[in-house]
Amino acid sequence: MDKKKILYKLLCGVVIVALAVLLLTGLLGGNDKHYHKDALTGEDVTRIKVDAPTNLAYDGTINAEAWNEIFPHITASMNANATNDEIVDYLSQDPYLINIYEGFGFAKEYGSARGHAYTLDDVHQTARPHPLANCLTCKTPNFAKLVQDQGVGVYSMDFEEVYEQIKASGEVISCYTCHGNSAGNEGELRVTHNYVNEALGGNVATIDAATLSCGQCHIEYYFTPTDKETMMPYDSVEAMDPEAILAFYDSMVLPDGTVGFADWTQESTGARLLKAQHPEMETYLQGPHAADLNCADCHMEVKMNEDGTVYHSHELVSPLQSEAILSTCVRCHGDTNMVEKVHRIQDQVTARETEIGNKLSDLKDALAEANQNGSLDEETLNAVRKLYREAQWFFDFCYVENAEGAHNSSLANRCLDLAAEKITEATALLTAAAPVEG
Ligand code: HEC
Ligand code: HEC
Ligand code: HEC
Ligand code: HEC
Repeated sequence: MDKKKILYKLLCGVVIVALAVLLLTGLLGGNDKHYHKDALTGEDVTRIKVDAPTNLAYDGTINAEAWNEIFPHITASMNANATNDEIVDYLSQDPYLINIYEGFGFAKEYGSARGHAYTLDDVHQTARPHPLANCLTCKTPNFAKLVQDQGVGVYSMDFEEVYEQIKASGEVISCYTCHGNSAGNEGELRVTHNYVNEALGGNVATIDAATLSCGQCHIEYYFTPTDKETMMPYDSVEAMDPEAILAFYDSMVLPDGTVGFADWTQESTGARLLKAQHPEMETYLQGPHAADLNCADCHMEVKMNEDGTVYHSHELVSPLQSEAILSTCVRCHGDTNMVEKVHRIQDQVTARETEIGNKLSDLKDALAEANQNGSLDEETLNAVRKLYREAQWFFDFCYVENAEGAHNSSLANRCLDLAAEKITEATALLTAAAPVEG
């Protein structure tokens, strides 16, 4: 055999091995986004300025149909949210909820969220009572626009009246919700839900715009006692933790002089209770990714269309269902199996939720009994009611967060620890005060 050829092959082999080693150790690609060649990120997106369409909808918003001519890929991807159409019935999955939510709408019906395409159908069909138009806050851009045009009086208008108008001429969550009429301005994001600016004021700028665009709705909120206006119970990221939010609700003075906000008073226990709502942004912002990533990084794929332009898919997916998004985790998590990592956290959190939810339900029964049989003095009863209110709040803050621990497992577990502590304290009070049997 030709010696030169062998030498040549050997040399090639050495070069290939050396290159492979360099690549594997990350020396060539560096630790930046190019390390994983095929993972496009938000930084690769093509941002273009175009004139906005001039055919406005009935209320002056530009709807998705009008944008479709300019951004067909984005519009099509947003419409693909209709494929996320499954609802898990939480009440049959976790029957203890029916007991702890007794007296409130969520004990009648509580299904999981599904895609943005269904917001108007779902709010209309729910068995939960919704007398006022404020229930439309997070369902349609046309309600946000109505508030901008007519002010806070809109929140307490009749639900059906506003719903019918929007159903006939408006849209489900759409371009206007997150971009106003400015999508053509390089995809500029706008806060269109007034209460976000009202609650956060100057602190709006401390939150990444792509995170806050989701945080217009994926948050804990309440209806103000006077105007029934949708409102966030904090004014800064620092005040978004569940302890601070509880303190805010506890110290609120209501129009009739009562101290302490409640979503409902539970008749059987006499407790004034809070219902937490999907605090995704609050939970996320206190977790390990807050400084480096935004919601879009994990829930919107970055894709390239035929002409080479790179865009954010507006189909909001679980990162676990997207190879493209999972391949961006590598940058920080290396070759960790992310699906396993997430499921391990979720299994742990869900198991604790079931355990503590059932204990909360037992506490509710014991308190209801004490409340009805008159075995306790009013002072002890009130102390137990307060602990039950707090336990329910911390339990709920974890239970209703849709990532089931994946956004922030230490916060999820802190909430469950606090709930468990309050339940133990309340049970001890009830037991100490209970008449000795026999
Ligand atoms: C739920 C919120 C939301 C809705 C609804 C929405 N967008 Fe976006 N949009 C975003 C976010 C978040 C980004 C990423 C912004 C960033 O990273 O700066 C984005 C980015 C964009 C961009 C910049 C290019 C890109 O792909 O990143 C354009 C253009 C755009 N959107 C147009 C639209 C149009 C047109 C519609 C309606 C068909 C729409 N958006 C609906 C949130 C939304
Ligand atoms: C205008 C309010 C609003 C905004 C803004 C918004 N969402 Fe939603 N989102 C909802 C509502 C309401 C639902 C539940 C819809 C239903 O079940 O009918 C939902 C559902 C979802 C779901 C499906 C949940 C499931 O369990 O299947 C995901 C994922 C999601 N949103 C992510 C996002 C992300 C990411 C952003 C920001 C880019 C965002 N949303 C912005 C209101 C909003
Ligand atoms: C580091 C990645 C990451 C970021 C950033 C992130 N999430 Fe998630 N999110 C997840 C994971 C992982 C899950 C669990 C997915 C699953 O169970 O399939 C999840 C679940 C969800 C869900 C439940 C729906 C679903 O598909 O399971 C919603 C809603 C959601 N996130 C909203 C948000 C919002 C709003 C933000 C920004 C405030 C955000 N996420 C930021 C990783 C992320
Ligand atoms: C910018 C770096 C960075 C990127 C990109 C990143 N992560 Fe992380 N992630 C971290 C750090 C730091 C931690 C905290 C240490 C740990 O648990 O590994 C973390 C923790 C987590 C946790 C545990 C959270 C908790 O509270 O227990 C999950 C789940 C997670 N990441 C999911 C993802 C997923 C899914 C992706 C890709 C879609 C992703 N991460 C991308 C830096 C990152």
